[in-house]
Amino acid sequence: MARHYKRPDYWTLKAHREGFPARSVYKLQEMDEKFALFGRGSLVRVLDLGAAPGSWSLYAARRWGQNLALTAVDTAQLLPACAAALSSSAGSFVFVQGDMTALPVREAVSSHGPFDIVMSDAAPATTGNSSVDSLRSLALAEAALDYAAAFLVKDGNFLVKVFQSADSAALLSRLRSLFLRAQSFKPKACRSESFETYYLGLQKRSNLSAHTPASLG
Ligand SMILES: C[S@@+](CC[C@H](N)C(=O)[O-])C[C@H]1O[C@@H](n2cnc3c(N)ncnc32)[C@H](O)[C@@H]1O
Repeated sequence: MARHYKRPDYWTLKAHREGFPARSVYKLQEMDEKFALFGRGSLVRVLDLGAAPGSWSLYAARRWGQNLALTAVDTAQLLPACAAALSSSAGSFVFVQGDMTALPVREAVSSHGPFDIVMSDAAPATTGNSSVDSLRSLALAEAALDYAAAFLVKDGNFLVKVFQSADSAALLSRLRSLFLRAQSFKPKACRSESFETYYLGLQKRSNLSAHTPASLG
């Protein structure tokens, strides 16, 4: 059975106070502070996969303002207030609505690349069956890594949410071959009972690949 979290916790209340639609922003903030995910360039080109309702994109826009070129993807709409804030504060902002594993979405994204950071907080709707949920999460994480392999610049960073399972270890091995550093990290704002974690790939080894992704249909 799917879990429902009824009582707003510390992170949810903080997000409301600070004008973010989702508590997940503090996971990104902690990883950015620890790993300097956005680099130090004067223009930051960001691909945000599974972006709705929009907290991660809004975090990037508040941090980089006019120096941000943002492409966000989700099957769902962004929160209208978020989309409006992104349109007015980012240097450029494109929203692609659709399934990130579908070829037309990938083609739409490719025209806005390359990117300095590819980040994916995409998560399947959970069923409560951890084997099913983990496999669906892994498929999304593999699709996100395919985007990074194709559209991330050399030295660019990658961040992806994964529901941990025996199978997710293979994804971390793939990250190790593509990035100088790869590791998993569970931010404080993750719910303690959740089996989600994040995999980070830091400093991509080579430039755009001719790789044909297996995960895209
Ligand atoms: C945890 S939410 C992301 C929260 C977001 N990072 C934020 O801070 O507001 C996960 C998102 O993944 C999206 N998602 C799930 N499967 C997807 C797919 N195949 N393609 C695109 N987005 C997907 C969902 O629609 C959902 O909005």
